[in-house]
Amino acid sequence: MLETLYWDGEVAMILDQRKLPGQTTYIACRNMRRVIYCIQSLATRGAPAIGCAAAMGLVLAARAIRVKDPAKFRQRLDRAAETMRAARPTAVNLAWACDRVLAVAAMAPDDVETIRAMLRRESEIMLAEDVAINRAMGDHGAKLVPRRATILTHCNAGSLATAGFGTALGVIRAAVAAGKQVSVIADETRPLLQGGRLTAWEMVQEGIPVKVAPDSAVGVIMAKGLVDLCVVGADRVAANGDVANKVGTFNVALQAKRHRVPFYVAAPLSTVDLDTPTGADIPIEEREAKEVLTAMGRAIAPPGAEGLNFAFDVTPQDLVSAIITEVGVIERPYRRNLARAKKQARV
Ligand code: MRU
Repeated sequence: MLETLYWDGEVAMILDQRKLPGQTTYIACRNMRRVIYCIQSLATRGAPAIGCAAAMGLVLAARAIRVKDPAKFRQRLDRAAETMRAARPTAVNLAWACDRVLAVAAMAPDDVETIRAMLRRESEIMLAEDVAINRAMGDHGAKLVPRRATILTHCNAGSLATAGFGTALGVIRAAVAAGKQVSVIADETRPLLQGGRLTAWEMVQEGIPVKVAPDSAVGVIMAKGLVDLCVVGADRVAANGDVANKVGTFNVALQAKRHRVPFYVAAPLSTVDLDTPTGADIPIEEREAKEVLTAMGRAIAPPGAEGLNFAFDVTPQDLVSAIITEVGVIERPYRRNLARAKKQARV
């Protein structure tokens, strides 16, 4: 698999996912602004990948803070983290990663060079940890997959959305590795086609059979009995188990309930936000109208039409069959069990 993001010496290299599957190019980020551009433009995307990119961005910011006094250095780093945090609102991994980097800076000895080195090391640990967490999630989730199964997924919660292996696609990869016969239905995921472009690309690379379907076909596909289970990722899981994920996920969950198909969410505990009581408290990103008024760079609506472009929706917890995490499969009651898992794992 292509690396989603990595360090090349002092430069943060970020795969430009807007160009996939056609072209493989990396954006070389030498400062935090460039990383924020990558996050906002969706050159890099997916909650865990956004978190990793944020940590790398703060390392670059730390390098650019030219003061020797540790207290002043930390103050400036706090300000940089505030800017980073505001890059996108829904995926909580962004704020989580900023908090983690600031905690390292706070605990480090009072020497600016040492703090910088420790932040760099922390960003590397976060990248490696993310892959390990996804593999653990995959192993837990694979047990929920029957010996032969067609799995429907929405958006891209794959290697590209993480530092590697993926969350929802990690479950699929682990099931295949365990010898199960899996095929995938990838919702195309309008307007930016993360399913059609990215999920389908990852599956083709792996040799896992994949069919791309319009988002609006979920009803007919399930009515025909073509789906055994759904697995999706998450941008934020509220304390009560409500799940924010790419717009259209809620529709998938409703159809799954109607057709008695299990609907699983695969998400690391860093995506679970106990400070957000319910889905109604999750900020939903609204993006430029242009994204829905155009397709592949061409206008698809007449001049004068407005766009309505919510990038995420919230699936209420009662539609979620279980939440697959790195510490195991979490079932209801979510409020109690998510809090318990976070406490035990100290995430
Ligand atoms: O707007 P995006 O492409 O960043 O949205 C991504 C998703 O909604 C993913 O499903 C989610 O972040 C989980 S990624 C493991």
